[in-house]
Amino acid sequence: MKSLIHIFYMNKSLQAFNTFGIEASAGQLIEINSVAALQAVLPDIKTPFYVLGGGSNILLLNDIKGTVLKMSIPGIKIERTFKHAVYLSAGAGVNWHKLVLFAVENNLGGLENLSLIPGTVGASPMQNIGAYGVEIKDVFHRLEAVEIATGKLKIFRRKELAFGYRNSIFKNKLKGKYIITKVWFKLSKPPHRLRLAYGAIKTVLKNAGINQPTIRDISDAVIKIRSEKLPDPREIGNAGSFFKNPVVDAGLFAALHRQYPEIPHYPQADGTVKLPAGWLIEQCGWKGKRIGDTGTHVRQALVLVNYGTASGAEIHALAVKIRESVRQKFKITLEMEVNIWH
Ligand code: EPU
Repeated sequence: MKSLIHIFYMNKSLQAFNTFGIEASAGQLIEINSVAALQAVLPDIKTPFYVLGGGSNILLLNDIKGTVLKMSIPGIKIERTFKHAVYLSAGAGVNWHKLVLFAVENNLGGLENLSLIPGTVGASPMQNIGAYGVEIKDVFHRLEAVEIATGKLKIFRRKELAFGYRNSIFKNKLKGKYIITKVWFKLSKPPHRLRLAYGAIKTVLKNAGINQPTIRDISDAVIKIRSEKLPDPREIGNAGSFFKNPVVDAGLFAALHRQYPEIPHYPQADGTVKLPAGWLIEQCGWKGKRIGDTGTHVRQALVLVNYGTASGAEIHALAVKIRESVRQKFKITLEMEVNIWH
């Protein structure tokens, strides 16, 4: 028999459910532990409602009057083993880093560069999470999602997701139409193809005297880099990079490069150039600045932080100010990566 577990709360504080640590409440919070539970509650929920994973990429502007569905579907499973590859599945509620550690412990390659990213498995394909030279699209096999309008389960394959930089079909054409319940990954068996192009990984491995790294060495290196550079949400509230790195055309880049020869930049295959938003923000004088309990992180200007009692509106106001000064100085409009919940 299918389990129909769900836990229901009224006027629930969301402070522990968002990594910014913003104090705001939800009129109803329903914790969903299975597909059947989701299908059972969907017909009775008024729209709009909100779907919550690890709360690591949201900014709560106000109390939520309606319903928040907290996706807690568990389970990590090795589904199929082939000669060179393994299909690993995980429920939407599985903590992302736990999945990475499971893969590393079982010597399954592909997720190690994505160590220590906060959040859950269900949210990971939505924005094609990425770090240190790898994006989820590189290891994604398929996913299962429930259609909100009908409650029907549908399988989406890699091609259908239209993955892009911090982007997928679920942020565009299918926004608000499906709830992801399970994701399958295609991982490698040894010998693994290691992704070492990112400079900081090479440096950490070299300093540790590691010449032939394992996937565990890479995972450990990424954990070290992230821990040194990014604030731990358990200590300082934050949602990782607040803005996306902007992509500009060759003409604007050439002009900027003449004016700022030291500007870090990443040429793209189509001739455009990606620029680090953190650098642009730092040039505008925002790095490490604090206004009340809001600010930008001292070691990474792209990460907005809550030092304790900041409201979502205060953090949003800071983000708008930062966006405005980057626009004035560089003629570039930064796009928020974090989802704003009104
Ligand atoms: N930089 C500065 N000042 C800063 C921050 C960065 O000059 O305050 C410069 C760095 O020196 C470097 C460049 O900007 O030359 C890039 O910085 P970093 O390597 O820290 O990466 P990022 O582009 O700021 C992106 C992702 C991160 C991911 C890292 C590593 C986005 C929006 N962010 O950050 O993802 O961990 O690369 O791959 O693409 C996230 O999405 O939440 C996130 C943390």
